[in-house]
Amino acid sequence: DTLKIVTLLGSLRQGSFNAMVARTLPGIAPAGMRIDALPSIKDIPLYDADMQQDEGFPASVTAIAEQIRAADGVVIVTPEYNYSVPGGLKNAIDWLSRLPEQPLAGKPVLIQTSSMGAIGGARCQYHLRQILVFLDAMVMNKPEFIGGVIQNKVDTQTGLVADQSTLDHLTGQLTAFGDYIRRVNS
Ligand code: FNR
Repeated sequence: DTLKIVTLLGSLRQGSFNAMVARTLPGIAPAGMRIDALPSIKDIPLYDADMQQDEGFPASVTAIAEQIRAADGVVIVTPEYNYSVPGGLKNAIDWLSRLPEQPLAGKPVLIQTSSMGAIGGARCQYHLRQILVFLDAMVMNKPEFIGGVIQNKVDTQTGLVADQSTLDHLTGQLTAFGDYIRRVNS
């Protein structure tokens, strides 16, 4: 059976390096794995419990939730902001966490961070893991992907990762994620 994987992108900007990483994944996935992008988190309003009560969940949240439920795993691809998780991504997770049939519960999750600095968003990874503990997601531990100095590893013309060792690392991590999903589901 083909594993269905979806990517959740933590950056909103047009020229995002993390978007380039996410866009690269479908083309380098191992055999038996299909990878699609989730809708952007850009239009999700700030979490407001009154809005939830009066108007229900925004369509921008429920659309993402439905696709996560239908997927075998989620790859979160995100920058680090101020040593932590970007507010927009945290906001999306906050909305998702309030849904009945919370979609990340028991769901295999893979984290990929990239930044222009040498540390590659590593500090964000462990904050994101902590958040996902509360959501009871099954976050894979290793191998990690920490994309340091990512601006030197992409081709801004194609908008894809170009550095061969980075590509190999990403494919290796996706292969490990496929094995991890099968283990979680067995
Ligand atoms: C950053 N950046 C950054 N980088 C990093 O390695 N650690 C950090 O804590 C931060 N903090 C931070 C805060 C804010 C508000 C911004 C806008 C940026 C730099 C960041 O890694 C860089 O802008 C990336 O290019 C952002 O990722 P995308 O948008 O290219 O995917």
